[in-house]
Amino acid sequence: MVGIAVNNSRDNVAMLGIGAYRPQRVVSNDDVCAVLDSTDQWIFERTGIRNRRWISGDETLRSIAAAAGERALVNSGVDRTKIGTLILATSSWLTLTPHGAPSVAFDLGINGIPAFDLTSGCGGFGYALGVAADLIRAGSADYVLVIGAETMTVGLDPTDRGTAMIFGDGAGAVVVGPSESNGISPTVWGSDGENAAAIMQDIDFLEYMHRAQEMQGLDPAEHPVGRMSLRMEGPRVFRWAAVTLPRALSAALEMSGVAKEDIDVFVPHQANARINELMKKNLGLADDIPMANDIENTGNTSAASIPLAMEEMLVTGKAKGGQLALLLGFGAGLSYAGQVVTLPPKPNEPSF
Ligand code: COA
Repeated sequence: MVGIAVNNSRDNVAMLGIGAYRPQRVVSNDDVCAVLDSTDQWIFERTGIRNRRWISGDETLRSIAAAAGERALVNSGVDRTKIGTLILATSSWLTLTPHGAPSVAFDLGINGIPAFDLTSGCGGFGYALGVAADLIRAGSADYVLVIGAETMTVGLDPTDRGTAMIFGDGAGAVVVGPSESNGISPTVWGSDGENAAAIMQDIDFLEYMHRAQEMQGLDPAEHPVGRMSLRMEGPRVFRWAAVTLPRALSAALEMSGVAKEDIDVFVPHQANARINELMKKNLGLADDIPMANDIENTGNTSAASIPLAMEEMLVTGKAKGGQLALLLGFGAGLSYAGQVVTLPPKPNEPSF
């Protein structure tokens, strides 16, 4: 019988370098409240956010994704010709066709490689990291560039009290590749479509086209088509998170074989500082274990939040390369993904 060849597989993979891009424009809570019916105090007390970055000028999702990817490549020291796949984790690329990753690969001078988008809401980076690690383990690629990038502002209704003060724009990236010892645990991931409507785009493409057709010939000032905006039932997500995420964190620890006491750093998705403090306490992580709090000045950047938060901790010295970190992303879907990892080295080219 004719045999079909398989790739050579390997076991040990790790994040070899990290890079990020933070948009130029800093937007404070007071700036948001110029339009939103809220206050700086309410926003900080309920979410832990003081500032976020919003794109401006010629910054786009494509440009910030490429900027973060470029820094990750430089910081990793990996020759870009060795990158075998690019995964762009995003929910805010503006067209379904074409998707974003091939254009970003072109911008990075690695045109031609397998490049695809991965959409899994705020859990997107964890999903992409898991896929990247498994591609390398299976021998489908030697090195993978994972970029989490979002311009959440394009779908933000600045008057919506459920979302306007929360989301920000940004991009973070890691180069994943073979390593001597293993630096990425098996991924613990899952989804809950029963609660899909808890975070959703309010109108889909067909509904938008339908409305636009109905409005044709009418005065747009009096009959606006409206725009697609993100809506979130915050308390419903909070309740789901309270049940689902502690289980996911315990499973991630168990599958990694790393004891809770050996975790050096906790990097949860930056959705709400209060949720994160609760998760850390309930998991029983020691008080002095550093926890990412990039949300304070970056807001919730969805699939970009975990690499941005890791980068901030490494640049400021709150965490060190090689330390053991517990990661957990969660959000739209609803979905979640987490791993225990060793942190990549402190970036030589930081984002701030
Ligand atoms: N500014 C001021 N007041 C606001 C407000 C705002 N932006 N949004 C709501 N309120 C008011 C409400 O009207 C309500 O007032 P009432 O008590 O007089 O009726 C009160 O604040 C509480 O509203 P609630 O919606 O229960 O707020 P909350 O404490 O749940 O906080 C979130 C809202 C969004 C911050 C919070 O629910 C959250 O972070 N949820 C999880 C989000 C998440 O994890 N997402 C996943 C990743 S994207």
